[in-house]
Amino acid sequence: MDIVLSGIRPTGQLHLGNYFGALRNFVRMQHDAKCYFFIADYHALTTHDDPTRLHENVRTVLAEYLAAGIDPDVATVYVQSDVPQVTELSLLLGMHAYVGELERTASFKDKVRKNPSNVNAGLLTYPVLMAADILLHRATHVPVGKDQEQHLELTRVFARRFNNMYGVEYFPESQPYNFGADLVKIPGLDGTGKMGKSENNGIFLADSDEAIRKKVMRAVTDSGPTEPDSPLSEGVANIFTIMQAVSAPDTVAFFREQYARCEIRYGDLKKQLAEDIIKAIAPIRERIEAIKGDEAYLRRVVSEGAEKARASASQTVADVREIMGIRPF
Ligand code: TYM
Repeated sequence: MDIVLSGIRPTGQLHLGNYFGALRNFVRMQHDAKCYFFIADYHALTTHDDPTRLHENVRTVLAEYLAAGIDPDVATVYVQSDVPQVTELSLLLGMHAYVGELERTASFKDKVRKNPSNVNAGLLTYPVLMAADILLHRATHVPVGKDQEQHLELTRVFARRFNNMYGVEYFPESQPYNFGADLVKIPGLDGTGKMGKSENNGIFLADSDEAIRKKVMRAVTDSGPTEPDSPLSEGVANIFTIMQAVSAPDTVAFFREQYARCEIRYGDLKKQLAEDIIKAIAPIRERIEAIKGDEAYLRRVVSEGAEKARASASQTVADVREIMGIRPF
């Protein structure tokens, strides 16, 4: 049976990138495989969040997981730090991760560039902890967005190296997964780059209809095509990319055709996009607040999830200790 695992850092409210890159697929996969979905609070520490806010963000992401439709009676939902076995596996896998390859990771280089005063060791070993998350349950499929591809590549490198070194077939080659399609990268609406929590360009699952309309109507475009079939500028291309994730295929085709014929009105395009986003995520928003306020339910979900995750994790750590020669007298 396939084993699916994925996680999201609790660094704020979830946005459309998190949803279409990851969370929507979690929900779609939960009935067809053994699934583990967790909240990566250790990973969030690499950027030194405020402790009170970190805890609040764990609650937010948990409530948003459940509001999006993850069923904790079917999938195992847990908080990373509730399963301390991951830290031991991370230490053990770290023996097979070379500093050079960690230094070359794009996400590490990006963090160094953006904040040279906080190049902590946790940032460098981030992909090792992430590999430990995945290999802790020997996951075969990892639903993630495009930005996590390199981390998955490293996970496979560590797993392969471990298997080769000890002559075992213990860890699987975990694959990033999006139902056979390319991994998703949802762009921002500000004309550049990806939608991100730190880029300040997010449309959040919890945004009101009005906030969504406002953000979409402000999206960067251009002065319009002047020749048939002209290439899309980055801002317009981004609108179409988001539209591909949220709208019906014939809606996308309709506006693409209008663009190709130089008849497009960006106002109409944006209005349609805003309404389609609202249709896709408003039902989730409506559930978030109720779930967030149900303290007893949230507590039950994480404690049952942690118990199930710890059972699987303990087995893996015991096996890995044995394989590596850490044995009791
Ligand atoms: P994080 O918290 O940055 O993002 C969570 C998930 O959302 C996806 N995502 C996007 N997908 C498409 N377009 C975007 N603009 C976009 N922005 C974010 C991410 O690809 C991810 O799937 N390192 C991970 C957390 C993690 C993890 C793991 C994931 C820790 N351990 C083990 C999978 C397996 C991260 O920082 O994701």
